[in-house]
Amino acid sequence: CMQVATNVTEQKHHVSRAKRGQILGHLRGFRGCTVWFTGLSGAGKTSIAFELEAYLIQHGIPAYGLDGDNMRTGLNKDLGFSKRDREENIRRVAEVAKLFADAGQICLCSFVSPFAEDRELARRIHRDSDLPFFEVFVDTPLIICEQRDTKGLYQKARQGAIKGFTGIDQPYEKPEHPDLVVKTIDSTVEESTLHVVEMLQENGIIP
Ligand code: PPS
Ligand code: MG
Repeated sequence: CMQVATNVTEQKHHVSRAKRGQILGHLRGFRGCTVWFTGLSGAGKTSIAFELEAYLIQHGIPAYGLDGDNMRTGLNKDLGFSKRDREENIRRVAEVAKLFADAGQICLCSFVSPFAEDRELARRIHRDSDLPFFEVFVDTPLIICEQRDTKGLYQKARQGAIKGFTGIDQPYEKPEHPDLVVKTIDSTVEESTLHVVEMLQENGIIP
């Protein structure tokens, strides 16, 4: 087993969240939180998260998107798609998201995150730091994702060229109590994004 660090103690920042909020964006106030998009590959997570990022920035609200495809070429390039690696992927990303949220950003995470216990860990990591966490289920049926097949990955998975593909030969555990469900059939990315905006307004995150 890997040697882990001992004799480590938490070091407190000198800047409070209120103080941080005073200087962030032209709409002052601490709005740090994480919006976690989960759903099948091709469901529309990235499209909605990045549309929302653009919307928030346009309105002077600090936001930053962390996306599966992007994280996996950097911080998490040592990880694959086994259950264990996906768990570590989500754990690391959730820790990073927590830091973004603590820094006052609305952190938009778009990850397949197919396992309920991993998403639960992400939520817990935020809760333990008193940071709001919203789980958004991008609920696009497999048959639609497979029809779209924007990256050609479903075809490869069906042919057996990709092993462990979510929805094909690995499970996707649907969220049981998501904060929001977004259906992408018969609605545009802009419409789906507005539903998330409304959720953030109802929760007092944005005006
Ligand atoms: S996970 O499950 O949360 O760890 O996955 P994530 O980090 O979001 O990465 C998903 C993106 O990687 C591509 N890809 C796969 N997805 C699912 N299963 C397998 N086996 C796989 N292999 C590669 C794919 O582009 C995913 O992006 P999205 O945007 O979801 O389609
Ligand atoms: Mg994506």
